[in-house]
Amino acid sequence: MSARSIGAMVDGHRLVVVVGTGGVGKTTMAAALALGAALRGRRAMVLTIDPARALARALGLAALAPGGEPVSLAALPAVGLRPAGSLAAGMLDQKHAWDAFVNRHAPSAAAARTILDNRFYQELSTSFAGATEYMAIEETCRLAESGRYDLVVLDTPPAAHALDFLRAPERLDPLLDHRVTALLARPTALAGAFAKVVLRWLEQAAGHVAMADVSAFLLALDTLLDDAVARTRKARELLRGGNAGFVLVTGPRQLVLDETGAFVERMRAVDAELTGVVLNRAHPAPGCTAAEAAAVLAELAATAAADGAGDPAVAWADAAWRDAEAEAAAEVAPVETFLAALPPGVAHAVIPDATRDVHSLADLAAVAARLWA
Ligand SMILES: Nc1ncnc2c1ncn2[C@@H]1O[C@H](COP(=O)(O)OP(=O)(O)OP(=O)(O)O)[C@@H](O)[C@H]1O
Ligand SMILES: [Mg+2]
Repeated sequence: MSARSIGAMVDGHRLVVVVGTGGVGKTTMAAALALGAALRGRRAMVLTIDPARALARALGLAALAPGGEPVSLAALPAVGLRPAGSLAAGMLDQKHAWDAFVNRHAPSAAAARTILDNRFYQELSTSFAGATEYMAIEETCRLAESGRYDLVVLDTPPAAHALDFLRAPERLDPLLDHRVTALLARPTALAGAFAKVVLRWLEQAAGHVAMADVSAFLLALDTLLDDAVARTRKARELLRGGNAGFVLVTGPRQLVLDETGAFVERMRAVDAELTGVVLNRAHPAPGCTAAEAAAVLAELAATAAADGAGDPAVAWADAAWRDAEAEAAAEVAPVETFLAALPPGVAHAVIPDATRDVHSLADLAAVAARLWA
């Protein structure tokens, strides 16, 4: 464990973003960090993206409220915990968030309608590679600014788009420049060709959308630009230069750590402050020395012989112990190398692999205790 816990770092932030490659436990850690803060008296909110069903149930997320709903913590006193704060959870619905964004920033209901009905907008808001990330930033900033929460923890989507999250505002910038939209909106061949280049650059897969729709969309977009540009600048400020904490989740295996190393480099490049690293699903050593294990096995062998049970039970116990040792040993060197390469001052926590899914508030509280240890 590092000198300062991840939890202690989170205590000093109002906005925390949980990042990492696919399936490593980002959503679980985001929920555990928010719960840990709630246990310490803060009004915490976790904005998740597609949580595993069991976790969604634990958080009472069946209703998918995008703006966040209070999570009942009534189950915690039974496990000896009395939360001094509160927890809310929300699940990001990308389409809903984009439509709300348009409604907020359009100068009139009619202008909003024009955009919402436009086919290019409908494609952009659902299939553009950075669309979820962009809205996640927007929603998080809104929640953080709402004054309703002391801490907002944002979960991010899996691997492929994980870094788009950090780049999303820049990627949309060209679209948010009046000169570019004015040029694109002109129904000329040059504008059409330029628009195609921009669209390809945006990894826009909507080749079947007519250019007329694109032009109409961009003309309509122009009406809400000033507001939206100010918004995205603000969002970027909130995320950069130490304003937000970034907690990176990874695993103890070489392959995951390799992917994560590249991720850390890119985070540094975009000035996202790496606050802490969670090594999730680790396999700690069995916790006894070889001599102790040998003594237990000898005892087992003696009992087995007395019972006439023979050696299979002993052989099984022996193999299980050796497997656990080998698994733990294989994780030591990759983890040490990874931790040694982290920038100074980055906290880390090791969370053991639970034999079952993390699926209740009590499970999350147990994870949180480790994050604050
Ligand atoms: N320490 C742990 N021990 C056991 N199971 C865990 C642990 N951490 C997470 N899990 C389980 O692993 C699964 C994946 O976790 P989670 O959904 O948090 O990952 P994710 O990084 O958000 O995935 P995705 O990239 O798909 O969004 C879940 O079923 C969760 O309960
Ligand atoms: Mg997830």
